[in-house]
Amino acid sequence: MSNAWVPPLDDRLLELLETRFAEDGDLFTVASGGLYVADPWHAKQILANAEGHYVEHSDFFHTSAGVLGPREIQQRIGREARELLAGFIQSSAGRLDGLVESHLWPSSRLPDAANHLLADYFRPALLATHTSSRLPAALTDVVKHAVLAGARERRRRWQRALLRRRAHGLLAAEIVARRRESGPAADLLGVVALATAPTHPPEQAGEVFLSLLFATTGSVGFLLAWSLFLLGQHEPPGQIPLSATVREALRLWPVAWLFGRVAARRHRIGPAVVEPGETVSVCTYLVHRHPAHWPEPNTFQPQRWGGANPAAFLPFGWGPHACTGAALSLGLVEELLRVITDRYHLSVAVDDPRPHTGPALAPPEFVLSLSTRAQRGGEER
Ligand code: HEM
Repeated sequence: MSNAWVPPLDDRLLELLETRFAEDGDLFTVASGGLYVADPWHAKQILANAEGHYVEHSDFFHTSAGVLGPREIQQRIGREARELLAGFIQSSAGRLDGLVESHLWPSSRLPDAANHLLADYFRPALLATHTSSRLPAALTDVVKHAVLAGARERRRRWQRALLRRRAHGLLAAEIVARRRESGPAADLLGVVALATAPTHPPEQAGEVFLSLLFATTGSVGFLLAWSLFLLGQHEPPGQIPLSATVREALRLWPVAWLFGRVAARRHRIGPAVVEPGETVSVCTYLVHRHPAHWPEPNTFQPQRWGGANPAAFLPFGWGPHACTGAALSLGLVEELLRVITDRYHLSVAVDDPRPHTGPALAPPEFVLSLSTRAQRGGEER
């Protein structure tokens, strides 16, 4: 996920879409324009774009200079980033305990604490070495002012522009330096720098690196926060695997909740006619709560995750542009939950339970309290 296509920043958008879905079904238009799709079959057709009805699109590779291409370079970045992260995650398992202690124990304010935890965890994978000592601080600023839930609204436009200019400038200089080195990439910045050399300006490569920063720190952090939010409120019945909890969190609260696609030609979606230039929005939040596909769709039921992959579940997109980091994100969040729940009992306090809707669907601000299981057992005795 990147900041390429930004849904209208309106707190009531989610509520409005839910109302229209309940009244009009899984294909509807809203007054501000555009067709919204909540039917899983149509959603997959749109995202897969096999017939070329839509302008070729990937949020991830979208930059201010246009979409980074050709497709082979996108695929190389996706593959090499996944391989580098898989190795990194395997060799970093021993760090999870310490990160949980320092970021979440004994109580923490989420979702921010989850994003900071993931930023610390992934730091060596994102940037193993650097020539400018100012670059790590600039990336920390990007997390603080662009990744955290609501960060964009908290900053003025000129402050964000300044931050962006500084981060882009430092990243471009580092990418130029990386391209002079030989040998395989040691980190994600190296992956992007080498895959895009010598065809792309370093500024554009830097923006794609920021997509990786948003994915690792933002999306994975929000998924961790949603899982903790739900686990802290519902003790799952019996021996439900944590993998089911993570999937149920993603079903109820898909971080990537709205995908915009622009029509390239006239075509039909069910009874609706779409004209060239019109935007069609796939709402995975509604797909995941479609009552024809999910019994009791609004209820947290991790026990529903036993069998085959359900048709109405697309939290990582669909088709050729589906997320290359899906499996490793699920595995990492599951592992973090294991570290936390093995040792701690969780409780959650929240004032306003409404989610934060922006480019990503983030949890509301809540306080997570952890008490050691032994401590709690003692109290109970
Ligand atoms: C919970 C975490 C994550 C979520 C919810 C998520 C979600 C998504 C979604 C929905 C897309 C499709 C975007 C579109 O069709 O426009 C996507 C694409 C992508 N994601 Fe993720 N992502 C996550 C984590 C990651 C991580 C950790 C990586 C690092 C390897 C990653 C790498 C990518 C790449 C490279 C693409 C572009 C695929 C392509 O167009 O070929 N994602 N992600």
